[in-house]
Amino acid sequence: MNVRQGRPAGGAAVSSPAAGNGAGPGEAPPPILEVDGLHVHRGEAHILHGLDFHIAPNRVTALLGRNGVGKTTTLLALLGLLPSSGEIRLEGESVTSLSTHRRVQRGLAYVPEDREVFSQLTVAENLRLAMQWPESADRLATVHELFPELERRSAQKAGSLSGGQQQMLALGRTLLHPAKLLLIDEPTKGLAPIVITEVVAALQQATADSTVLLVEQNLRVAEALATDAIVLDEGRVAWSGAMADLLADEELTRSMLGVGRRAGGQET
Ligand SMILES: Nc1ncnc2c1ncn2[C@@H]1O[C@H](COP(=O)(O)OP(=O)(O)OP(=O)(O)O)[C@@H](O)[C@H]1O
Ligand SMILES: [Mg+2]
Repeated sequence: MNVRQGRPAGGAAVSSPAAGNGAGPGEAPPPILEVDGLHVHRGEAHILHGLDFHIAPNRVTALLGRNGVGKTTTLLALLGLLPSSGEIRLEGESVTSLSTHRRVQRGLAYVPEDREVFSQLTVAENLRLAMQWPESADRLATVHELFPELERRSAQKAGSLSGGQQQMLALGRTLLHPAKLLLIDEPTKGLAPIVITEVVAALQQATADSTVLLVEQNLRVAEALATDAIVLDEGRVAWSGAMADLLADEELTRSMLGVGRRAGGQET
């Protein structure tokens, strides 16, 4: 397989301190997630053709690629929401045969692309339903600090929130889970630029010490949040490495993502 690589996904070059993970000095910490030969079919279509990648702990990894390339499919397969073949290991242990429920218990959390909230319930009720872990009560205070709007709108029906506020509620619900790996699908999709800035600022705080696999079409958002990147093309990992290396390679971003960057950092 022809995989272009800036450096191995999983951060083998060790650029961040990533303390407390048991790795010796200069050694890469063991990956949180290892995916080997992941295949997924949807209907008649063979969507993922044997993905191989690792996710390093305490970092945000962007999962990138053109529309329809299989980014959401990858997250759904990791969660066990779509049938797949291949091997998925979380902290070195296979979760491949586990149900979605068990994978979530093992530490996977998910913010879907369409920001699922219970529209007939209030903001507070939506959050209360997600308080399923002993740590959730402490985490609620953090969620309210990150998204003060949610506390102010506690009594409001979630269905009457703006798109940005619903995204914050969806993120807030997921952050109540002490997850080992947070899967976030396009958190800024369809949001106004000013709201994107707010969501990105909150995500920067919320993900500071977390391990995140972030699907994001907006390269500037990915740049602001992620240190590592995985690029999918034709159902395979076409490139993985440091986000900065990806962004520095104009030909690569143009060919793989269909975007270029002018000197001012604007996407074209
Ligand atoms: N429910 C479905 N049944 C069959 N095929 C599907 C289904 N949902 C998506 N697909 C197909 O699977 C492929 C991958 O879709 P997926 O949603 O994973 O792409 P994506 O990279 O997340 O795209 P986007 O950037 O548009 O969100 C696409 O060709 C899509 O048409
Ligand atoms: Mg998608």
